[in-house]
Amino acid sequence: MMHLAAIVCGLLPIVLGSQMLIAVDNPFGLCDLAVPDHQNECGIAGVWRNQLQSVMKFTCIGGHIEGKYFTSVGNADGFYTLSGKYLKPDDDTTVVGWVVAFSNDMYGNSNSTTAWSGIHYADESTLYTHWLLTHFYPRAQLWKTTMINHDDFKKVC
Ligand SMILES: *[C@@H]1O[C@H](CO)[C@@H](O)[C@H](O)[C@H]1NC(C)=O
Repeated sequence: MMHLAAIVCGLLPIVLGSQMLIAVDNPFGLCDLAVPDHQNECGIAGVWRNQLQSVMKFTCIGGHIEGKYFTSVGNADGFYTLSGKYLKPDDDTTVVGWVVAFSNDMYGNSNSTTAWSGIHYADESTLYTHWLLTHFYPRAQLWKTTMINHDDFKKVC
């Protein structure tokens, strides 16, 4: 299988199509510790992976989402923190939004933030999201600061 690597602006690491990098069933050992029920009020807390093999783990308590986001070329110490909000229209459904600022000790400040917004239906294994990524450019290049796309996350554990 072909492995495609793409670097956004040379700063934000994203690798496409490389399942070899990250253990399929237990990425970064994140599944070793299950999210306890009292940290899963949204019903979808745990470990998720998107189509580019980025991985996240989050809890949800009292309307708040807190967790860690691992880009697909990241390693266990290279995560970014994520935080967001959620609500439940009914017992089966969760709507959710969260943000990552791409700055950490391992990879430094990438001058980028991304906001995801999505929905999960109980009878599906997918968290459907769209996102906006804003990357710093000087004022004269305001037009190219923001990208939009979508991610589908699948539950890992
Ligand atoms: C972020 O932007 C600042 C200001 O232009 C720049 O000095 C710095 O190199 C940028 N960071 C990266 C990782 O490119």
